[in-house]
Amino acid sequence: MDLKFGDVQETALIPLAIKASETVRANARIKDYKAKEIIDTLGVDVSKFDPFLSHEGVVARTLMFRRALVKLIEKYPDALCINLGCGFDDKFSQVDNGRITWFDVDLPDQIEVRRKVYEDRDRCTMLPGSALDGEWTKGLPKNDMTIIVMEGVLEYFSKEQVKVCLNMLCDSFPHGYLLAELHSPFLEKHGSHHDAVKNTNATFGWGTKSGKELLALEPRMSFVSEKSYNDEMKKYSIRGKLFAIVGKNINNRLAIFRW
Ligand SMILES: C[S@@+](CC[C@H](N)C(=O)[O-])C[C@H]1O[C@@H](n2cnc3c(N)ncnc32)[C@H](O)[C@@H]1O
Repeated sequence: MDLKFGDVQETALIPLAIKASETVRANARIKDYKAKEIIDTLGVDVSKFDPFLSHEGVVARTLMFRRALVKLIEKYPDALCINLGCGFDDKFSQVDNGRITWFDVDLPDQIEVRRKVYEDRDRCTMLPGSALDGEWTKGLPKNDMTIIVMEGVLEYFSKEQVKVCLNMLCDSFPHGYLLAELHSPFLEKHGSHHDAVKNTNATFGWGTKSGKELLALEPRMSFVSEKSYNDEMKKYSIRGKLFAIVGKNINNRLAIFRW
């Protein structure tokens, strides 16, 4: 299949490749048969996108985002859920309670590629749109509670772009939760050494030591919690345990905000 990606869009192949390869491992911690099917369908060589630390990081974040999302959906079973910067991710089928309304949103060219491997489903719709412009939000069904997932997306934004995105979310939705992956200032500076992203042309944007730094950009948001991927990665291997020590403050985090 002939595929053309922008620099950041290409990074969507990293979690896809990792979820596909984890799925066929013995004792797989996540099983994502859709990712495996997509990799087989796209027929692209993704071996360079699946090194050890990124593999463990994506497994950890997949588990952590899923748990947090399931918990929130239990609390708000009719919520409007948006996977913003969805890439090839299939979170909807992992967390669907039969009631939520879900939108998979990404840049137009990414949605075009996604449509080659997904179809819209009952309560799950693909939508072209940008995290930096709220035009796409205008046609969405109204809901008192919106849950936004941004996994591996804010990492590529400048501080100004993060602000634009947070302001857009608060302007567009009356109440919501944002589940966002954040990265450290260390990764912002040394991103060219990242074991998987170095194989793309993408560069990391604004890194933070704490999610609380985002509150200055959008005072309507409040901070709920933050957890390093180390908490999950250290459960599975000696290297994961070691990284949790030497990379104590440099691993990515799942941060949750509410407004
Ligand atoms: C590393 S991928 C993550 C994909 C997916 N969230 C996952 O975890 O598998 C980054 C995604 O962000 C998307 N993206 C980049 N800039 C965006 C923007 N301004 N608005 C919406 N999506 C964007 C890219 O197209 C890409 O799909």
